[in-house]
Amino acid sequence: MLRHSHNFQNILGKTMCGIVGYIGSKPACTIIMNGLKRLEYRGYDSAGIATIENGILVISKRAGKVADLEKIINPTELTSTIGIGHTRWATHGEPNDINAHPHSDFSGNITIIHNGIIENYLAIKKKLLLDGYSFKSETDSEVLAVFIGDLYKRTKDLEKAVRLALTEIDGTFGLVVMSVYEPNTLIAARRGSPIVFGIGEDEYIIASDASAIIQHTRQVIYLEDNEMVVINREGYTTKTIDNQTTNGEIHELEFDLKSIEKGGFEHFMLKEIYEQPSTFRDAIRGRLLIEEGNVKLGGLRVVADKLRNAKRLIIIGCGTSWHSGLVGEYMIERLAQIPVEVEYASEFRYRSPIIYPDDVVIAISQSGETADTYAALREAKLKGATVLGIVNVVGSSIARETDAGVYSHAGPEIGVASTKAFTSQLAVLSLLALYLGRLKNVSSIEGKRLAEAISAIPEKIQYILDHSDSIKAIAKEYAHAQNFLYLGRGYNFPVALEGALKLKEISYIHAEGYPAAEMKHGPIALIDDNMPVVFIATKDDVYDKILSGIEEVRARKGKVIAIASEGDTQISKVASHVIYVPNTLPMLMPILSVIPLQLLSYYTAVERGCNVDMPRNLAKSVTVE
Ligand code: G6P
Repeated sequence: MLRHSHNFQNILGKTMCGIVGYIGSKPACTIIMNGLKRLEYRGYDSAGIATIENGILVISKRAGKVADLEKIINPTELTSTIGIGHTRWATHGEPNDINAHPHSDFSGNITIIHNGIIENYLAIKKKLLLDGYSFKSETDSEVLAVFIGDLYKRTKDLEKAVRLALTEIDGTFGLVVMSVYEPNTLIAARRGSPIVFGIGEDEYIIASDASAIIQHTRQVIYLEDNEMVVINREGYTTKTIDNQTTNGEIHELEFDLKSIEKGGFEHFMLKEIYEQPSTFRDAIRGRLLIEEGNVKLGGLRVVADKLRNAKRLIIIGCGTSWHSGLVGEYMIERLAQIPVEVEYASEFRYRSPIIYPDDVVIAISQSGETADTYAALREAKLKGATVLGIVNVVGSSIARETDAGVYSHAGPEIGVASTKAFTSQLAVLSLLALYLGRLKNVSSIEGKRLAEAISAIPEKIQYILDHSDSIKAIAKEYAHAQNFLYLGRGYNFPVALEGALKLKEISYIHAEGYPAAEMKHGPIALIDDNMPVVFIATKDDVYDKILSGIEEVRARKGKVIAIASEGDTQISKVASHVIYVPNTLPMLMPILSVIPLQLLSYYTAVERGCNVDMPRNLAKSVTVE
């Protein structure tokens, strides 16, 4: 559990930035640069590195990418076995060389890398200016570096100086400090911005994200809020910033290196789309009791009574996770007959939501670090709700803040546009719906039918992937469109939203998703012969109504791309293009119908020459408001 003494609404900082720190027996520079590359997917605009070479701090930093930083360093000259590196996503001060991290104190002997926001940095800066210090950058992080330097001058003890500084600051930090005064020590600390500490053989590596660590070790400690670790060549100590020793529980990382590499695919996004048969299987593995028509979710055992008696479920999330929440709403209401509300976490946290003690709030998040979702979760908790999580990243802040939860087990998702995390969230939501349904009215026979259908999904996803050639051609044909409309009904309405989001995220084509019946209340005005309209038109009880929608678009010369059920002979007569998906229960159809839409956006973005894995202005994990 996280321990906060501050107003949590302000507590999360800019952890899209990446942190890597190393102390061990190998040259730190290479390890840090590789680590920074592993963190590139998070989004950043400048990078820097510092090592201690023959008792002197050597710092290189630069606006731009890690590759730009590489051009100004010479690894053969950097032989030190201790160092820190950073990728920055600008908040205070534009992304330029000076504002990039590491930042140093006045003497140039202490240097830090920092994720997060120091809220009272102006007050501290004012005091330091009065004391005669000056500053090179516009950043709050440099203020922290100078502050630590000032405290070191008084204490002559690096750890103490760091601790004193951290108890004085308001705001958030994931921090690593290094100094020539103690050239065999690294100090890392956390409040609100993740810090993972990896324990290897004769080496330690600190990072903001386990992907920079896995290559070196699987043994990690996730620092808690207001916790720090002091590392030297003989060992390490974990403690609070108030100097109380903590027990620093060691966890084992579960993913492997392969899962964060491209493995022959041109982009991470494509690889992740193709991983979905296996990631879906991982999400349901060991959880489906087919014969009993039931589900075993070990993570929910402690809250089984709460769930049984819940009067209402509130699902919160952002972006793609919010979309999966919408599908979850339809699934759970249908099976468990419990009212479900789905809300944007950012809205929920600020509008004084009414929460009753028998409400259960479910936060959905791939990263487990999204600031709005985290804050909304804390708000719900404060108001007495039971809070659950459907989270992908093990040990993440949201996962640790919840009372109970279910991991989605999609493995690391590197492409900024979420794909496999979405279908894994849907896997978990379908299990949850079945679980809740069985606690209520769903019979074992109906449960078994659903369990069988869930277990058949992976091969159906595989089938879609194996027959996806036509999607490339469709993408080519419409890659120059200015706008796209996505329409679906019922379970497939959230899929329309997700399809539109995917397209705009990575191809920068303006796209909107709508419930199909809403078309006539506005979007129909947009339709002309330049407008591609994607209909999710799979066979279910609203199929006929979808067909009428298609006719309306055709009548206005719009181009119809339909996602349809295999065996549908009618649809090709009315649609310009049809992408077929196998049949399943309507409730599970979103898991299949979204796959062609992921591919359509992928191939469109490639066709337009866009940077698919790192689209402009977006970050994988948005930890600022
Ligand atoms: C960012 C990402 C989206 C993601 C959203 C929520 O905006 O670019 O792909 O859906 O955050 O992230 P989460 O990690 O909480 O699921």
